[in-house]
Amino acid sequence: KIDWRVDSLMKLMTLEEKVGQLNQYSGREVTGPVSEKKTDLLQDIRTGRVGSMLNVRGVKDTREIQKVALESRLKIPLLFSLDVIHGYKTVFPIPLGEAASWDLGAMRLSAQIAAKEAAAAGIHWTFAPMVDVARDPRWGRVMEGAGEDAYLGSLIAEARVKGFQGEQLGSVESIMACAKHFAGYGASIAGRDYNAVDMSKQQLWETYLPPFKASVDAGVATFMNAFNTLNGVPATGNAYLQRDILKGKWNFKGFMVSDWGSIGEMIPWGYAANEADAAAKAITAGSDMDMESRAYIDNLAQLVKEGKVSLKWVDDAVRRILYKKFELGLFEDPYRFSNFKREKKVFSDPAHRVAARELAKKSIVLLKNDQNILPIKKDVRNIALIGPLVQAKRDLEGSWIVESDSVNVVSLMEGVRNQTSNKANLIYAKGAGVSSSSQDGFAAAVDAARKADVVIMALGETWDMSGEAKSRTDIHIPGRQEALFEAVKATGKPVIVVLMAGRPLIFDKIAAQASAILYAWWPGTEGGNAIADILFGAYNPSAKLPVTFPRSVGQIPLSYDVYNTGRPVKDPANTRYKSMYIDSPNSPMYAFGHGLSYTTFAYSDLKLDSSSINQNGEAVLSFRLTNTGKVTGEEVVQLYIHDEVASIARPLKQLKGFQKLSLKPGESRELKFTIKSELLSFYDNDLNWIAEPGKFKLMVGSASDDIRLQTNLTLR
Ligand code: IFM
Repeated sequence: KIDWRVDSLMKLMTLEEKVGQLNQYSGREVTGPVSEKKTDLLQDIRTGRVGSMLNVRGVKDTREIQKVALESRLKIPLLFSLDVIHGYKTVFPIPLGEAASWDLGAMRLSAQIAAKEAAAAGIHWTFAPMVDVARDPRWGRVMEGAGEDAYLGSLIAEARVKGFQGEQLGSVESIMACAKHFAGYGASIAGRDYNAVDMSKQQLWETYLPPFKASVDAGVATFMNAFNTLNGVPATGNAYLQRDILKGKWNFKGFMVSDWGSIGEMIPWGYAANEADAAAKAITAGSDMDMESRAYIDNLAQLVKEGKVSLKWVDDAVRRILYKKFELGLFEDPYRFSNFKREKKVFSDPAHRVAARELAKKSIVLLKNDQNILPIKKDVRNIALIGPLVQAKRDLEGSWIVESDSVNVVSLMEGVRNQTSNKANLIYAKGAGVSSSSQDGFAAAVDAARKADVVIMALGETWDMSGEAKSRTDIHIPGRQEALFEAVKATGKPVIVVLMAGRPLIFDKIAAQASAILYAWWPGTEGGNAIADILFGAYNPSAKLPVTFPRSVGQIPLSYDVYNTGRPVKDPANTRYKSMYIDSPNSPMYAFGHGLSYTTFAYSDLKLDSSSINQNGEAVLSFRLTNTGKVTGEEVVQLYIHDEVASIARPLKQLKGFQKLSLKPGESRELKFTIKSELLSFYDNDLNWIAEPGKFKLMVGSASDDIRLQTNLTLR
């Protein structure tokens, strides 16, 4: 039925009106460089020259602007889009933090709540999830994805797409999702944003494309291309990515929006001679909508008239976009998402903050806990709270926030007070600013520590230090914060460090000397409560790192799925001519999958029901997990596989399964993973997805560097 309605409408449209549907402008705010071209926005909308707006939000504004679109000849409603990345009104942890929960249901709920709030405020479409695999913490946008792994990233992509979109498009409680940035953006050279990407097709297919494919399989409505080149061709003008893979092999039926200005940016890249050339290359390659380059609206109609661009590409793009407008029900009621009553009701739903606190607790990683200093004992009298982020609110929200009121954020100070009531004496000292070079506050901080039984320090990055265009060459904890830590530590008091940041930071002195470390990312609206829940034992931490923490910038890019090399170090006493650094271990500071608990888990009784399988067969790997500690806790058991000999050298470990479960003290459960040839497969030199006969190592453990049980399987 929708196809018929789209066709009928397209028959009425002039070429100019068709091109108008492919044009997207930003209103209210900008999230990219401002165009030098002057436009009369409202007049353009009124004359059918705009198909979508970004950065307009709220019932009042979206209604006003939609009204103008309905004055156009064919009254085609606008699509309102926005970067709803980790919440709209209620801020959830940054996506990288959420990924540390390894809790797909909780992440789906987070996206669902964000969608509900945004949909109530007139938004039809979010530019999320970002599904770029990222292995370089210098890149500021590492905060926005699901980390370094293709398998985990694919499951998270699916959960987020389903969360944003709900069961079916068209509900006023969900919005269209957008898998971005297609493709390879997370691998920009040297972690510098917007830079070139050069990678083998195998790496592209095996590591970077799977989360995009998972998004398509989950029914994602839209895609966004990327600023980077991929092996020399800008993603925006890349027909291999957009036509051959996405719309061809994967049969994607939604539409592709360019990134901000990325069509025009093909000129400075040296891939297009001028704006008309850029427009022709982008539409032909499969970019359906032009975000803010204004290259389509100013050139496409003429290019078609001159025979330089085939009308079929314009028609295909228009059809895809109109289809989504029909699916959303906008032709029935263009204002159906913009409802004052619903906006008010949804924004005040207390369940949203409860969910934000739950997910924040699940996202905070316990990196270190010497002598079980955590949880803090209930009878502690004097607690010093030291550091630039103790009272912070805005910083806990991180970048990419939309409509939140930062005053409503629970700071760490408030969270600790909520947990301790009036029983503990809280002594506060800021000590230093996040990036300041001054040590003026150190003496007061040391004084506060001396008066305390235990010290909690809150250190890290301010909200604007990670995110788009926030690449850094030095990812050490900024300013004099580590020096402040050392001064406080010198008092001899136990120091618990809470780190808040948008990326893996380097903090070697803290790692070596702190009594305990919690990595809280930017935890969102309920951040302070969630951290305090963990500090005082109301919640037993269960998060695991979704990304490797390097020891030094020199190790970057670093991920857990390394190769053995021809010269591995087998014996630390014999390292000459081996693959290693002479000034650092190869291993990371904290490995992918690492995260401690207040309890301990034993892995035992590994069994494989069949030591060999054929291509269509399966084997069941089972083992027992027991909570051997004193408190209830959740464990993320991880399955890694290694193909020992193959036609292409394989990584030593690849994540191929995980389960998260809660066990009471003493409780034990038998767990199973089913191993099929799919889990043993890889892309060969001709990009065929194959499993080669031979021996495979199956490993289960608590982290990529903490394998507890292993066995072998043969594929016949
Ligand atoms: O969605 C974003 C994208 O991720 C980066 N450039 C701007 C877009 C719109 O705000």
